[in-house]
Amino acid sequence: MPRVRFLPTFLLPEPVDVDVPPGTSLQEAAYAAHAPIGDACGGNCACSTCHVHVVEGFESLAEMDDAEDDILGKATDVQAISRLGCQALVGRADLVIRITPEGQLAFINEHPEHRGREGEIKG
Ligand code: FES
Repeated sequence: MPRVRFLPTFLLPEPVDVDVPPGTSLQEAAYAAHAPIGDACGGNCACSTCHVHVVEGFESLAEMDDAEDDILGKATDVQAISRLGCQALVGRADLVIRITPEGQLAFINEHPEHRGREGEIKG
């Protein structure tokens, strides 16, 4: 199974790895790794709070469709390696994922127990 590594975030001082079957979304992988990813729209491709940067393995992901491209255009700090975690499906290669500051902030906003940790967000 491919291994997905999530780089440190305000909640994770060290990288965390999770093995998932091909076809798993990056958001589902983040849930399995207990990595803080936003999901304001519940994974329905409507919010961009699950925005991630795919640091390694970008080409192995399933292709982006027009709906994802439209929503991603509303995100902040969009890069050539940007994807929506809820739409990007793992292929056969290992991946390294950075949950964007936008995604970490969204997680904080959705989880009141973490309010006040905005200054710990990692870029
Ligand atoms: S959770 Fe809203 S677009 Fe992914």
